Amino acid sequence: MTGDHYFTPEPATPAQPREVEFSVAGRDYTLASSGGVFSAARLDPGTAVLLRKAELPAPGTTGDLLDLGCGFGPITCVLATSAPLATVWAVDVNERARELTAANAAQVGAADRVRVAPPEGVPADVTFAEIWSNPPIRIGKDELHQLLLRWLPRLAPDGAAWLVVARHLGGDSLHRWLTEQSWQVQRHASQKGYRVLRVTR
Ligand SMILES: C[S@@+](CC[C@H](N)C(=O)[O-])C[C@H]1O[C@@H](n2cnc3c(N)ncnc32)[C@H](O)[C@@H]1O
Repeated sequence: MTGDHYFTPEPATPAQPREVEFSVAGRDYTLASSGGVFSAARLDPGTAVLLRKAELPAPGTTGDLLDLGCGFGPITCVLATSAPLATVWAVDVNERARELTAANAAQVGAADRVRVAPPEGVPADVTFAEIWSNPPIRIGKDELHQLLLRWLPRLAPDGAAWLVVARHLGGDSLHRWLTEQSWQVQRHASQKGYRVLRVTR
């Protein structure tokens, strides 16, 4: 990348189209990716642990799900194919990430149920049955806390958030901080140095 971060709103890094292949729950995905977005060359190992260890939504799940910080859309596409009756909101500050997620949602046949938006593009009255995120740790601790304080309160009363964070990037301190903010936090799984946290009210 040039001076871009993966969370740069309009990356200057050349697009360099590529494909990322992975399998989740017995289903194969081949998604479009590109320079200028997070983990453009492969499914991020943290995202892989999240999708392997967290409880994917049941096929009958309805309502709105959120992929917070969608990148090129791997979590969005898995949620949309696992829960074909649900609407998935795919939110990212990075415009290129949003374009890729929209294309990938169409590729998995879910264009009509995936709403790709910048953070300010989600109507205020939408609440989420589930929030999924491999959150942008690199934006800094204070910004990350602000991000979670903005979105977690939009969980439906009986909703759950699934987060993955590397232990060496502060997974355990994030767990403690969320608990201090009065969220119920369970370390649902731990694998390859990643913590999968389940957060409820
Ligand atoms: C760790 S990456 C995960 C990307 C993707 N979900 C994946 O698993 O490959 C975090 C994403 O959060 C996005 N992001 C950064 N700040 C954000 C914000 N304030 N609101 C929404 N998304 C943000 C970044 O652009 C990046 O795509």
